[in-house]
Amino acid sequence: MLETRSQIPDYELPGPAGAEVVKRETALMTTGTKTAPIAVKTAKGLLLEDVDGNVFLDFTSGMVAAVGHSHPKVAQAIADQAQRWLFINSPDFYSPLAAEVAERLARLVPGTAGKKVFLCNSGAEANEAAIKATRWNNPTRKRLIAYIGAFHGRTMGANSLTASKIAQRARFTPNMPDVHHLPFATCYRCPYKMSYPSCDIWCARILEELYFKQLIPPDEVSAIFVEPIQGEGGYIVPPPEFVQIVRDIANRYGIPYVDDEVQAGMGKSGKMLAIEHHGVTANCTSIGKALGSGVAVAAQVLDANLDFGVQGAHSNTFGGNGIALAAAKATLDVFEEEHLVERAADLGAYLFDRLLELQKSFPAIGDVRGKGLMLAIDFVLDRKSRTPDPAFRDRVLEGCFRHGLMLLPCGFSAIRFTPALVVERDQIDHAIAVLDKAIREA
Ligand SMILES: Cc1ncc(COP(=O)(O)O)c(C=O)c1O
Repeated sequence: MLETRSQIPDYELPGPAGAEVVKRETALMTTGTKTAPIAVKTAKGLLLEDVDGNVFLDFTSGMVAAVGHSHPKVAQAIADQAQRWLFINSPDFYSPLAAEVAERLARLVPGTAGKKVFLCNSGAEANEAAIKATRWNNPTRKRLIAYIGAFHGRTMGANSLTASKIAQRARFTPNMPDVHHLPFATCYRCPYKMSYPSCDIWCARILEELYFKQLIPPDEVSAIFVEPIQGEGGYIVPPPEFVQIVRDIANRYGIPYVDDEVQAGMGKSGKMLAIEHHGVTANCTSIGKALGSGVAVAAQVLDANLDFGVQGAHSNTFGGNGIALAAAKATLDVFEEEHLVERAADLGAYLFDRLLELQKSFPAIGDVRGKGLMLAIDFVLDRKSRTPDPAFRDRVLEGCFRHGLMLLPCGFSAIRFTPALVVERDQIDHAIAVLDKAIREA
């Protein structure tokens, strides 16, 4: 059984067994986004043990394993389903399990419009479905709008919307044509060098006041994609007016609004879907990551009038496979039984306060931001210029790993905190103690 160690460890990473695994993977696996040389043996709740016996407190995987690593109910549901059926071609045949998961997903999404659900395997695929469904239903509308800093996935359609880091885009041209990106509501480093609220939310209004007059014919736009809180882009929470104004513009020009909840959704923000913070509804909602607690399952929940309506226009093979459905159903059950959304709001407020305390001690922490248990701290060269300090951030991260705390970067110079929503207060205290030490050492 894994236990949190009360003392802060100082691991050599990778250990000898870990080094061997790193060598074998590096020899064969394509280059991805590896952050630390940790080779996992087991993971339960928020604790992870590597192949050398080092134990880590994992503050990264709540993004996906929001119920905690290998939650017993989810693991049991998967094992039981494996005995019943693993695969029927869900796009071709029917099952009560698929019906139930679709009903529950449709109920999750705010709004009164009737919904349809497309079950799929990844966030990118959920967004691809939105690109295709909105085009299918408005064949004269071909343009797409997204925001700088956004991450919507890495398949060619979704990647054309992604604009978070140059490495995600370089050399992949030509992208899908006629995708327009606008600067996002990044108030901490406003791209327009304005200040909230005296800016009057220019970053939202500029779409109609400038772009729709000089660059983008609004009646050619098939969808606007927005993350309710930008994830990879740096855990950037736009002011609610931003989302409300963009939503209103979309409405007035008959443009479907796509809410990408792949990262911010499923309770992390302290609401089941992060768009609930902004008080608007969407036409398409992309859900992924935490929906299956680690099993590949995602969904596009769209207004019923955006359904394809023609057999074969859009489908897939593994969407709605038995394991994915069982994992999604059990995950939704655990969310309800353990009141995880409320927990994220409560414990998120606690973690936020603890991060603000740290900020008082360390001038290098320029910003503390986020909602619920989806928080970030941003490291700066100095607080006045707010110039990002990614080198310092990377040293802090390296120290945290060495001292047994797993965290991930985001944005230019931020570290994100996405512990599982079952995190305990003493685990948050332990994480803060490690972070404090790692910042001092950096
Ligand atoms: C907001 C958002 N959309 C889409 C995706 C893509 O999801 P996937 O990696 O499952 O394709 C991600 C992944 O990080 C994401 O954060």
